[in-house]
Amino acid sequence: MKRIATLTLLLAAGSALAAPFPDGNPKTGKKLFDQYKCNSCHKDKMGGDGSAIFTRRDHRVTSPQGMLEQMTMCSGALGKSLTPQEQQHLGAYLNQRYYKFK
Ligand code: HEC
Repeated sequence: MKRIATLTLLLAAGSALAAPFPDGNPKTGKKLFDQYKCNSCHKDKMGGDGSAIFTRRDHRVTSPQGMLEQMTMCSGALGKSLTPQEQQHLGAYLNQRYYKFK
């Protein structure tokens, strides 16, 4: 019984240390990002190609969880709902390129 508890603890610690979007592929994320025209609104707000929204000084997203929540809001505005797998891909892309959460 004790061993199982220890194992569970180890597993939990392991997943907390893993990359924030372990099931995502940044390349696929980039494709989805273009396909869904994610920067179309960001562009209106920020100018340029829109990606300054991720690096602006007071940017909103400060954790992988926050990124997932923001993506849900953004895609809702598009009238789409991203699948969990799409979120992983997009998260991996945005994280690799801009946010660099560990
Ligand atoms: C309908 C317009 C719209 C679309 C489409 C859109 N977004 Fe956004 N997004 C916004 C707005 C507006 C903000 C800024 C919210 C704020 O400043 O409060 C934002 C902010 C963000 C942020 C947070 C940036 C920060 O401050 O750290 C992320 C991440 C993001 N969007 C991801 C996405 C992704 C991924 C997609 C494509 C699936 C997408 N967005 C599509 C409107 C949109």
